[in-house]
Amino acid sequence: MTLDWIEPANRLQALPPYVFARLDELKARAREQGLDLIDLGMGNPDGPTPQPVIDAAIAAMQNPANHGYPPFEGTASFRRSISNWYKRRYGVELDPDSEALPLLGSKEGLTHLAIAYINPGDLVLVPSPAYPAHFRGPVIAGGKVHSLILKPENGWLIDVTAIPDSVAEQAKILYFNYPSNPTGATAPREFFEEIVAFARRYEILLVHDLCYAELAFDGYQPTSLLEIEGAKDIGVEFHTLSKTYNMAGWRVGFVVGNRHIIQGLRTLKTNLDYGIFSAIQSAAETALQLPDVYLHEVQNRYRTRRDFLIDGLGKLGWDVDKTLATMYLWVKCPPGAGSTDFALTVLQQTGVVVTPGNAFGQGGEGYVRVSLIADCDRLGEALRRFEDAGIRYQS
Ligand SMILES: Cc1ncc(COP(=O)(O)O)c(C=O)c1O
Repeated sequence: MTLDWIEPANRLQALPPYVFARLDELKARAREQGLDLIDLGMGNPDGPTPQPVIDAAIAAMQNPANHGYPPFEGTASFRRSISNWYKRRYGVELDPDSEALPLLGSKEGLTHLAIAYINPGDLVLVPSPAYPAHFRGPVIAGGKVHSLILKPENGWLIDVTAIPDSVAEQAKILYFNYPSNPTGATAPREFFEEIVAFARRYEILLVHDLCYAELAFDGYQPTSLLEIEGAKDIGVEFHTLSKTYNMAGWRVGFVVGNRHIIQGLRTLKTNLDYGIFSAIQSAAETALQLPDVYLHEVQNRYRTRRDFLIDGLGKLGWDVDKTLATMYLWVKCPPGAGSTDFALTVLQQTGVVVTPGNAFGQGGEGYVRVSLIADCDRLGEALRRFEDAGIRYQS
């Protein structure tokens, strides 16, 4: 007897297919055929975790006090480190007990926040394109996603003035993310002021994802939502150690901001998980205290790759914007090509993996996202393969 016929819950069936999982299948097939893949598809940093962080984890693992269940709300010491880091970095005071909550990576928290706050039928505003958890979490929760289509002529920024009153009045949550995955767009401080005023006017819970807080170049400093006056009354901000510190596999991040909103998420999580291994929290504290010279190294690495790839793509006919932050280039498909077809053509003809822009919502159609997660030698090889296969941008 098997239960092959049993249907998953409606909330799973409501989800569009996860493009990254589909890409994984195609990559596995290509590898079986012996193709030497250059994988620029995921946002998975290619460098090692800094040695002091690994050393801190090993030392913490030797301590039996860390071997039991961790505290639900994270260790007091990690929460203090988060609030100290925030104060140092943004000049914002946070109460470590109520305004900071460690997470099993920010994706976990972004998704669970939706489950904690969205009832079936609630309206959620989400940009398109967006990081998939920003719309998939609300869909899992049974919410109605209202897509805010982003446009290149608007610098891929949300235009809150274009949101009809009737929509804004119904909306319960707005997710947003600058510097942006996938577009690489950055938002000026005035944009943050405008979106905070909008959320306050319509009493909308504002969720900012500052995943790329430190991956910024050419003197650009991303703004934190909580730097904006009045933001803490209505908003929370998600952070991760995955990208800046090459710790994607460790699964550690945190949320900061409004204590009431964080309490709701904490209550849900208390019922779902047991938090992060204390030794990893200890290592994360070390990461947050690394000297700036480490950050400069990481920033230089991605900036060098960005410049190299923009230059190489330029020789193949592309005019790619110089992004001031993130680890991505947002690249137009050749005229007439859709995102999925173009990404598949590139994979089949060159063994280079890029992500179709429509994986991030309909607003990403016509683009692919290229992750800067290989060194310049490999990026150069990818460009050579493009040239050999005649893949170029022709307008
Ligand atoms: C915008 C954004 N938010 C969140 C995440 C997830 O990060 P984490 O590893 O903390 O779950 C990613 C990962 O690519 C991302 O791009």
